[in-house]
Amino acid sequence: MNKKKLPLLKPHTVDVKKGKKYAWCSCGLSSKQPYCDGSHSETKFKPVVFTVKVSETVYLCGCKHTKKSPFCDGSHKLL
Ligand code: FES
Repeated sequence: MNKKKLPLLKPHTVDVKKGKKYAWCSCGLSSKQPYCDGSHSETKFKPVVFTVKVSETVYLCGCKHTKKSPFCDGSHKLL
């Protein structure tokens, strides 16, 4: 499978912790959205790994079409 699934047409509002590493799902197949659960293994997609510098609330892309991954850029409004 090489087409992204659209699990959510809005961002995921999540609290992230300073110093922690996260893996955002870019394929849309994970059952642990917005994070990767390894379901991408049969696709061309890879998770986007990022480390947080400040504990805060962030908006992670739910539609998987953002151009600023892993963060929402409003692309879901165009789908
Ligand atoms: S399950 Fe989607 S990138 Fe890993």
